[in-house]
Amino acid sequence: TEPLRPAMLRQESKTEVDDGKKKVTMFFGTQTGTAEGFAKSLAEEAKARYEKAVFKVVDLDDYAADDDEYEEKLKKETVALFFLATYGDGEPTDNAARFYKWFTEGEEKGNCVQNLTYAVFGLGNRQYEHFNKVANVVDEILANGGGKRLVPVGLGDDDQCIEDDFTAWKEQLWPELDLLLRDEDDKSSGTIYTAAIPEYRVVFIDPVEQTHGERSWSLANGHVVHDIQHPCRANVAVQRELHTPVSDRSCIHLEFEITNTGLGYETGDHVGVHAENCLETVEEAEKLLNYSSDTYFSIHADKEDGTPLSGGALAPPFPSPCTLRIALTRYADLLSSPKKAALAALAAHTSDPSEAERLRFLASPAGKDEYSQWVVTSQRSLLEVLAEFPSAKPPLGVFFAAIAPRLQPRYYSISSSPRMFSNRIHVTCALVHGPTPTGRIHKGVCSTWMKNSIPADKSQDCSWAPIFVRQSNFKLPTDNSVPIIMIGPGTGLAPFRGFLQERLALKESGAQLGPALLFFGCRNRSMDFIYEDELNKFVEEGALSQLILAFSRETAAKEYVQHKMVEKASEIWDIISKHGYIYVCGDAKGMAKDVHRTLHTIVQAQGSLDSSKTESLVKNLQMEGRYLRDVW
Ligand code: 2AM
Repeated sequence: TEPLRPAMLRQESKTEVDDGKKKVTMFFGTQTGTAEGFAKSLAEEAKARYEKAVFKVVDLDDYAADDDEYEEKLKKETVALFFLATYGDGEPTDNAARFYKWFTEGEEKGNCVQNLTYAVFGLGNRQYEHFNKVANVVDEILANGGGKRLVPVGLGDDDQCIEDDFTAWKEQLWPELDLLLRDEDDKSSGTIYTAAIPEYRVVFIDPVEQTHGERSWSLANGHVVHDIQHPCRANVAVQRELHTPVSDRSCIHLEFEITNTGLGYETGDHVGVHAENCLETVEEAEKLLNYSSDTYFSIHADKEDGTPLSGGALAPPFPSPCTLRIALTRYADLLSSPKKAALAALAAHTSDPSEAERLRFLASPAGKDEYSQWVVTSQRSLLEVLAEFPSAKPPLGVFFAAIAPRLQPRYYSISSSPRMFSNRIHVTCALVHGPTPTGRIHKGVCSTWMKNSIPADKSQDCSWAPIFVRQSNFKLPTDNSVPIIMIGPGTGLAPFRGFLQERLALKESGAQLGPALLFFGCRNRSMDFIYEDELNKFVEEGALSQLILAFSRETAAKEYVQHKMVEKASEIWDIISKHGYIYVCGDAKGMAKDVHRTLHTIVQAQGSLDSSKTESLVKNLQMEGRYLRDVW
């Protein structure tokens, strides 16, 4: 394989736009950083490849302050590359949401994209119904508006190896970019460029000089708007198990205290939780990296003179100085499977030649099947990989920049309503805990943290987490008399508990409520029928008209929510005909897909429609915002 050339990264990025130079803008819509990473690595490679062009990487959120500005700015672009991830129910990432809304709504975009030469790479997962919807939609609008498509839209599939998809797309892209950006006197064509390994600058500090290791999150409170970058410290007020002792699984009810935090929410919103790795995981990482837990250091994305280390950002990856214990606990994703780029970076810091060789093979195109089997299918965690390569000892600057991705916040549908609990955010969280193919017991980071958290009603020294609220469009109808159908098995019940609290509060304040049906499913009434008493109470008090239950493991035959829907087909059709709303929450890959299909069946049979009329009726429900899904 091509030797890596870290020196390339150190080249000064040219930020000024010389007139004679062609300008290429790389836009990213990212949630977990993968799309951003792809955009940045492509920019680095392209910079080394085309000296006569200028490359700019742009976060879509920072591109324009308002919609008019999008138009003006887009008109001035000549070559644009888009890296767009799709989430949940075919939605854009948070940082691309405003752009996507503007781009897909309103008038045609021809006047601002007709002179644009472009290419789109999408990041999605084939297991989901709307695979790469965002990338496909943007690609199509650009083409319809007269833009010149350089290569077919790349459909990255995270279910397999998205890095391979990206590499394959780049292979198609380079010859096109060569034609566009390379001058005839340019002799460099044919050179193969390999992305450099990013690295942060780490300065070790004598622990004697240690000042305040707690400087990070406590500063966040008092910030005007709380978002992913500016979360707010919230204490755990209540924590309890929702399953009965006979269940072999666990589901946690947890309440965050938000009094005096400035944080507010609406029924149906999501809460983002920055959880911590558990001590056992962190201790293992310290051992494998061969650093002691009290190693105290600062971390920087710039050189000592303040210029960027790589073409990108100057901002450090996390607040420092801090101890390695804190850095690994809060900021490093240690339990996901490492990406190929991480294995390549690891190889560069592996002293045993045969180990280094194996790592390079796994990261190479030739090692595709082996990577897919040994890493992806086996669900090998980063820590397991480190353990298998004892001579791999990356420096911390490389570890945090190229090997361990940033630990991402986890999102939960809030299971309370501010009309009933204005000072608390309730979360309903199933514990992720189970064996992987290698025999490791995988413990989900955030659910394990919630399971182990200590609430304020049990100890003064209670647990806390940095949290923020993400708005959603999963909302009750504004007209309370409109009938609704809610479908939420398992923890899919969460937002509906909020809806029902809201309806109860509305009823108590004199509102007239339309009928509400709730389809809930679980394995067994005596094990995992969560919030049973509360749901019965909602029925008694008139917030819920019917509670329809499906127990999947009580009898030989599986009973799922969609089976119960079929039994209630005429009532469902009646509600649809009366302009009612349908809500689905929970697992996207299985349940929501099956429910979607069942809904078609019901509509077709009840309305005596042919299949194309059925399709368009359901599509219309979605377009009108009367069929809403909060799925993951
Ligand atoms: P199971 O685990 O017995 O298959 C909450 O997780 C409930 O959703 C469980 O009863 C679970 O049943 C059920 N469930 C699993 N897959 C489903 C699907 N494709 N559609 C509807 N419900 C499903």
